[in-house]
Amino acid sequence: PDLFAPERRNSIGFDLHHTPTLDAVDKAREAFQEHQWNATRLLATDAAPLATAPVTNPSTPEDNPGTVAPASATDAEVAMASATPWTAPAAERATILNAAADLYEAHHGELFALLAREAGKSLPDCVAELREAVDFLRYYAANIPDAEPAGTFTCISPWNFPLAIFSGQIAAALAVGNAVLAKPAEQTPLIAHRAVQLLHEAGVPRDVLQLLPGGGELGARLTSDPRISGVAFTGSTATALKIRAAMAHNLRPGAPLIAETGGLNAMIVDSTALPEQAVQSIIESAFQSAGQRCSALRCLYLQEDIADDVLTMLMGAMDALQVGDPWHISTDCGPVIDEIAHRGIADHIAVARADGHVLKEMATPEQGTFIAPTLIKVSGIGDLEREIFGPVLHVARFKAQDLDRVIDDINATGYGLTFGLHTRIDDRVQHVTDAIHAGNIYVNRNQIGAIVGSQPFGGEGLSGTGPKAGGPNYMSRFCAPDRQSTND
Ligand code: NAD
Ligand code: ALA
Repeated sequence: PDLFAPERRNSIGFDLHHTPTLDAVDKAREAFQEHQWNATRLLATDAAPLATAPVTNPSTPEDNPGTVAPASATDAEVAMASATPWTAPAAERATILNAAADLYEAHHGELFALLAREAGKSLPDCVAELREAVDFLRYYAANIPDAEPAGTFTCISPWNFPLAIFSGQIAAALAVGNAVLAKPAEQTPLIAHRAVQLLHEAGVPRDVLQLLPGGGELGARLTSDPRISGVAFTGSTATALKIRAAMAHNLRPGAPLIAETGGLNAMIVDSTALPEQAVQSIIESAFQSAGQRCSALRCLYLQEDIADDVLTMLMGAMDALQVGDPWHISTDCGPVIDEIAHRGIADHIAVARADGHVLKEMATPEQGTFIAPTLIKVSGIGDLEREIFGPVLHVARFKAQDLDRVIDDINATGYGLTFGLHTRIDDRVQHVTDAIHAGNIYVNRNQIGAIVGSQPFGGEGLSGTGPKAGGPNYMSRFCAPDRQSTND
């Protein structure tokens, strides 16, 4: 392949280790430190204002970055009735999506401020998120299949990648020529609203892309109406199962559901691993983005022979992590998204604490929904009853002769999103990576941050339906049925 072809070029982002770049980014963000945004539905035609509710900053409860006016059931009706496929030629659609990518980059200061104040994202996470969003727009624009669109797609996204995943789903559906009804997560309507404004400004017609802020009830309405031709969903496995059931009852047979869901992701570190490399990978995989990535490491298996050494180094490295307001450039670990998430994770830690299983916990800021990085001892991944969506790492030990049992236990969870392996034995790489069921497998590195175009991302089993986002087969599922592929 031509490595320099436009579809293989990724956004260069911002090098935060370069002081003049960091200063410029900080200044661009600062202009929006007290800005107020208002998110409302963006329908094909203007509609009367609705009642608004404040949006809160998860790290600073007294900061309200703006207000949201959730869309009503009537708005959903209006949007579904007026949704219009994008009949512009593919080349024009591509030009407009590329223009949107340029607009996203031009508005980086505002988007970084929104990502920090509404979603609690640290500055490095903001940079990574913008890059991924821009990469999705450009990648799908460069790879439009020669096929008819399915019709109207509902795109439902989570709060943890409120710009990248929100934009990625929409971009793929639009690139093919579908009408899109976008329903962002209820926690992050402001970012979604700004992104859709920029897409409209770039030239996407208003009746082709409509925004409906709201929660699960609105999502259910937009995924259970026969006027919908397909659904792109990213979020929890439980919600995906509900959507699948609703679609089976109400949509035409074979209407595609592209679901990217949760994971119980493991890493195995054997006795030949380089401890420093493994510890760096563990810290990034478990605690970056406050553990709020579907790809994040949840259960670490350490071979008995090196477990004590790795744990000592890991705890030392955890001590160096800065937990706090994501606006500060030195912050490594920001807040979890809201009080509900906080309570669920804190309860999980409290049970482990009462059982004497907490190996390490750290101080948290007094205000805001912070959970500090925490280590919990487990006998194996089977002890995890659910995905703990925060900076909590479970650690198990294994003996060399038990490696295959560990692999079986990981596969037995039924999830299959990411997996990490640290070893210097080539045969073991082959053996383990052949045996593990996971969509994205990483060897001797961290297991987060898949790059659009180079590392298509998606899971199997309870973790997703495929095809993988940011890969060559993704857009085929947004096409009319005769051109769809289920390959990943
Ligand atoms: P969630 O399932 O609670 O919500 C996701 C979206 O679904 C939201 O927009 C929500 O309003 C909507 N929704 C809720 N009920 C609905 C219903 N009945 N019908 C239609 N829509 C409904 O998930 P979340 O808490 O926002 O996100 C975190 C989850 O997302 C984690 O499980 C994480 O692993 C997963 N995730 C997966 C990927 C991936 O690529 N595999 C990426 C990011 C997040
Ligand atoms: N694509 C995101 C990652 O790889 C979820 O971390």
